[in-house]
Amino acid sequence: MFSLRTLALMALAFSGAVNGAVCDSDFELESDGDISKLSSCRELKGSLVVGEKVTRVTLPQELQTIAKDLVIQSATDLIVIEGPSLKKIGGLFELRELIRLQQLTMPKLAEVGGIRWVTLPNLRELQFETGITKASDVYISDTLLQSLQGLNLTTANTFVVANNRYLKQVDLALKSVGDSLDINFNAKGIEASFPDLVWAMNVSLGDAGSISFPKLQKVNSSISFVNNTFEEASFPALKEVGESLSFISCTELTNLTAPKLESVYGTFMLANNTKLEEVKGFQSLKSVGGAIDLSGVFTEVELPALEDVRGTFNLQSTGELDCEPFNELDNSGVVQGGTFTCEGSKEVAESTEGGASTGGGKKKDDDKKGAAGTITANLALVAAAGAAVLFAL
Ligand SMILES: *[C@@H]1O[C@H](CO)[C@@H](O)[C@H](O)[C@H]1NC(C)=O
Ligand SMILES: *[C@@H]1O[C@H](CO)[C@@H](O)[C@H](O)[C@H]1NC(C)=O
Ligand SMILES: *[C@@H]1O[C@H](CO)[C@@H](O)[C@H](O)[C@H]1NC(C)=O
Ligand SMILES: *[C@@H]1O[C@H](CO)[C@@H](O)[C@H](O)[C@H]1NC(C)=O
Ligand SMILES: *[C@@H]1O[C@H](CO)[C@@H](O)[C@H](O)[C@H]1NC(C)=O
Ligand SMILES: *[C@@H]1O[C@H](CO)[C@@H](O)[C@H](O)[C@H]1NC(C)=O
Repeated sequence: MFSLRTLALMALAFSGAVNGAVCDSDFELESDGDISKLSSCRELKGSLVVGEKVTRVTLPQELQTIAKDLVIQSATDLIVIEGPSLKKIGGLFELRELIRLQQLTMPKLAEVGGIRWVTLPNLRELQFETGITKASDVYISDTLLQSLQGLNLTTANTFVVANNRYLKQVDLALKSVGDSLDINFNAKGIEASFPDLVWAMNVSLGDAGSISFPKLQKVNSSISFVNNTFEEASFPALKEVGESLSFISCTELTNLTAPKLESVYGTFMLANNTKLEEVKGFQSLKSVGGAIDLSGVFTEVELPALEDVRGTFNLQSTGELDCEPFNELDNSGVVQGGTFTCEGSKEVAESTEGGASTGGGKKKDDDKKGAAGTITANLALVAAAGAAVLFAL
């Protein structure tokens, strides 16, 4: 019986290859047997939805295109998904809560409207030979993926990869990202490389052990790095950031350079980067549209090209920092936001927003109630701000 069925399928496959049909509706597969409903389709005009009871999805040999979505959700016994000839999914390719899925083989798949793969705790690798070169929105979270090999996109609107605890490397061919590029909570020390990326709207990276953005010229909105372990971050081509630029809690960072960066239209923030003593890699930075908010262990900070700061200026360090050059900047009207603070050798260096701090050591106040410490800190800030206002007058 099995072999008869196989023969029938082969016959269909053969006729399909010669003259596959365009199937003009949506399909829903409720059991493994239902797949045969598709067996003469070369192109599916609608969507294909796979139900919870299906244990294996092997798309017919002739199926090349699904015009709308391919959605497979909550099929708890599904282990294998194969689409031997599938080249294109016009809509969303959604795989969600497939707790046993181990194999995803689509050697010819090249184009997808969107990818949303969520909670695939047994999926270790992608088997794509051509590689997906087109997809506008990609969202991959909670998988066992160790690499994203097979995703070879050059442009994307969003590219979000989060909570994939075994993902140790992303090396993407992206040239631009229209909305956000977000790589967070994957393997600790993930190596993140974007060798061709020229511009992105928003960039957010966490847990990275190394980063590479050799061609990045512009971030249209914000770029932020929170909780990373890379020692060096360089942006050799970056000229402009449309909103804010921030490095927060990058605890191993010692060398940060963006030699061509001229403008940051929002806030430039460094906080809790506990080894960053020298900030000398921003030699072209001329204008900051928001605040400059640098707190840390700095012993040397140089911003030699700075001409215009629209927001407040806050530079605080637990290290021995010479504020003279910055006091001069303030006197010459470079800082227009009103409050100017520059202080070295502080016990706690605070950022303007929310009392963030890089402590040089344990503060004696720590024994007291936290609130008391905060009040002291805020008073100090207010005093410094007041002094700066007087200065400006
Ligand atoms: C990715 O696509 C580019 C062309 O867009 C090609 O040169 C490269 O070999 C592809 N890489 C992989 C791993 O398929
Ligand atoms: C960019 O990211 C910031 C902060 O996460 C967010 O407020 C903003 O809406 C994002 N902008 C775009 C265009 O996605
Ligand atoms: C972002 O900036 C780049 C370079 O100037 C530009 O080509 C692109 O259109 C901008 N993107 C958006 C979404 O505004
Ligand atoms: C950074 O790490 C801290 C402490 O581990 C955590 O509370 C916070 O949510 C993390 N933030 C991000 C954006 O990773
Ligand atoms: C810091 O990084 C830049 C760019 O990669 C490099 O040229 C420079 O030598 C590094 N400086 C130190 C002290 O390692
Ligand atoms: C820096 O670390 C301190 C203490 O862990 C925390 O209270 C503060 O919110 C952090 N700052 C930022 C900007 O995340």
